[in-house]
This record gives sequence, C-alpha cells and structure tokens, in this order.
Amino acid sequence: MSSLPPRVTSPRHWLRGPTYSVRRDPLRWIPNWFKDYGDIYRIASPLGQATVVGAPELARQVLVDRYPRYQQKSQAYSVLRILMGNGLVTSEGEFSMFSSDVRGAAADVSGPIATLNEYALRMLRRPWLFLLPRRFPTPFNHAQYRALRSLNEIVHGIIRARRRQPAVHDDLLTMLLTACEEGTGRGMTDEQLRDEVMTIFVAGHETTANAMAWLLYLVSQHSEVEEQLLAEIDAQWPGNGLTPENLGAFSYTCQVIEESLRVYPTIWSIGRRCTEEDELGGHRIPPGMNVVVPIFHFHWSERFWSAPEKFDPSRFSPERRPPPEAMVYFPFGAGPRSCIGNHFALQELMIMTVVFHRHFQFRLQPGFAVEPDPLITLRPKHGMAMVIRPRREFLPSVESKTQSSDLATR
Ligand code: HEM
Repeated sequence: MSSLPPRVTSPRHWLRGPTYSVRRDPLRWIPNWFKDYGDIYRIASPLGQATVVGAPELARQVLVDRYPRYQQKSQAYSVLRILMGNGLVTSEGEFSMFSSDVRGAAADVSGPIATLNEYALRMLRRPWLFLLPRRFPTPFNHAQYRALRSLNEIVHGIIRARRRQPAVHDDLLTMLLTACEEGTGRGMTDEQLRDEVMTIFVAGHETTANAMAWLLYLVSQHSEVEEQLLAEIDAQWPGNGLTPENLGAFSYTCQVIEESLRVYPTIWSIGRRCTEEDELGGHRIPPGMNVVVPIFHFHWSERFWSAPEKFDPSRFSPERRPPPEAMVYFPFGAGPRSCIGNHFALQELMIMTVVFHRHFQFRLQPGFAVEPDPLITLRPKHGMAMVIRPRREFLPSVESKTQSSDLATR
C-alpha cells in the first residue's frame, strides 16, 4: 500500500503548526507548499487532517472522475448548513429563479442574511466556537437566532402562499413544489423546501455580489480594458432594452467577467471528504480524509498561465481560452456537484456590468486599501469604497442616446 501524502512541517513553530499558518493566510501558504512538497501534500492537526491537491489531473479525479468517493462536503459546509439546512438543488432545465412574490421579499431577507453571514464567518475564524451550543446566551447567538427565525418566517410564508395558489407562477419554486421523489411520488416537505430556497438565497447572493465588486475594482484599475469595454457597450447598447438574446453581442464584456473570476474566484477553494479508500498521485487517501481543491491556485499558477498576475481579458478570447478539460480554470467548480447557478450568475453579471458601465464611471476612493479576505467567499476585506460619477456628466453622447427605457432589463 502506498504511503499517505507528504506531511507539511513548515513553518516550524513550537506551539503553532502549519494549520495556524494556513488559517491565517491560505492564499500565501497553499501555493508556497506546492513549491516545497509537489502537487499533493497533507496538513495534519490534532483536530484532523486535510490533503491539498494542486495538479489538474488530481483535481479532476476528486471532482469529476471519482467523485462518488469524494461526495461528502467538509468543515466550511457545516457552518453553511446552519443557514441552509440540508438544501441542495438537483432539478434540471431552464427556469427563472423566482417570481415577483419571492423577489418582493428580497429587501426583508437581506438584513437577516447579513447577520447570519457574519455569524458563519465568525464560526469559521474561531472553530472552537463549535464546542458551545448554538443557543448559548451570548448577544451574538441571540442575534443569529432572531435572524434565522425571521428568515424562516418569510420563507415559510411564501411556501404556504404558493401551496394555496400553485399554478400562477412559472419559476424555480414551482418546480421544487411540484417535484416528486422517483418511485414514491412524494413531494417535498415544507422543511425541505425551506432548505432549498435558503440554499439558493445564500449560495447565489454573496458569490455574485463579491464577483461584481472585484470586477468593478479591476476595470477601474486598467484603463485600456475599461476603454475597450466602454467601446463595446456603447456600440452594442440596444435602444429597446437588454434581453437575453442581445446580451450575446457583448463578447468582450463576457471575457472581462471570466478574467475577473480567474483573478478573484469568489469561491476560492472546494472541500470534500473521502468516503472510500482511494489513491491520489501515488498516495493513499483513507476514508475520512478531507481533500481540498484550492481553485485560486489553479487560476494563479505560472504553470498554467503566462503572467498570471496580469488582468488580461484577452485570455478568454475564442482562440486563447483554456478548454474545460484542462482543469486550470473552474470558478464554478467541476463535475456533478458544480454550481447550479453558473449560467444565472453569468447572466446577472453581464447585465450589471453592461448597465453599470453604460451609465456610470467607477473609481476607487483615493487611499482606499483593497485586500482579499478568503473566508467562505473571497471578499474585499474592508469592502470596496468607490466614487461613482454619471458618465453623462463628461460624455454627452451617453445622455443623448440614453432614454429612461434603456435601463429596462426585462
Ligand atoms: C459568481 C457567482 C458564483 C460563483 C463563483 C459560484 C461558485 C460555485 C462553486 C465553485 C460551487 C461548487 C462548490 C463545491 O463543489 O463544493 C458552487 C455550488 C453551488 N452554487 Fe454557486 N456560484 C455562484 C453563483 C451561484 C448562484 C447565483 C446560485 C443560485 C442561484 C448558486 C447556487 C449554487 C448551489 C446550489 C451550489 C451547490 C451545488 C451542489 O452542491 O451540487 N451559485 N457555486
């Protein structure tokens, strides 16, 4: 039987081992250890161990080829489970996510979701908090409990209303409501539906919001990219409003989005737990071992990209874009458990990028420090303070062509 992957021993510290370093600064240490130990290594701590893989064929093995052996998700997901329950959307086909009754609740849910996100982040930063019962009477636990209760009330209210009037809407919630278990023909319980709806609210909100923040930042820092983007947007801007059909004309905009997701992949790492003994890169992976696929390493490595530190949307031109099977670019994951919101997110980002840049200029607030913070998502640590000016102030052509109906995004 082959041996376990090499165990990381650096940096040496009498009390704090590599687990401490990787928690504090994963974006630095994970790639450094690939240089020291090769494409696969193991980080061990008294609380468990994780194998990290850094070669495309190993990532493919875990996420795609042998995914049944790596199904169970690992620690970060147990934090998310507090918010989402056990929701996982498995429905297929084209759908609009939610109709107006659910969208109407967006303003009510954003506050509680922010509180719960804060709670999840705190738990990840301080894993020992898992030892305390969630009902332990601290002000923070109380706030998260209240937020969860009001979210549950909103979501259950929508589900009850839909059950009373099922046929009116044609969206994801109706699909979930009418979905039946194969064999038994049983539909989902209200609790299962609640978990599915929460999964989509949570998985789809923070990821796309952060992707948009990074894109605005990157474009504002690269005048030649901004010029090309604005030229395309002004040339292709449809007088009668954006539709999914005419979004296809914005090909450079799409490259800008793909390149920003390479530079700042908002889901920066994927975790799995091995459920059946396997061999990875000639090493034994026992059941129970956590396996980490750090997406950002694949996106940033000089092995796979020339000048990876450069923001260059032309990497995603039809001639240059890497094929999916190369497994060097996968911001939405890969294999059967990849993102179900992939196309929805790209469409949201396209609409926002086009509409925002058509009407406004974005500049980073002078002196503002931007720093990536890799928690559940890769987000700007201190937010993204930008000065926003209407383009019509300095580009009269935008005003003359822009009718209020132009903003319609149907
Ligand atoms: C830029 C935006 C987004 C990015 C970068 C992103 C990225 C990802 C990634 C990398 C995964 C795979 C995680 C894993 O393998 O463990 C994932 C899963 C998932 N995403 Fe997204 N996502 C985005 C937007 C969305 C949106 C808008 C939705 C829903 C409306 C969504 C719903 C989900 C769900 C439900 C899963 C779990 C799928 C499963 O476990 O089978 N995501 N996402």
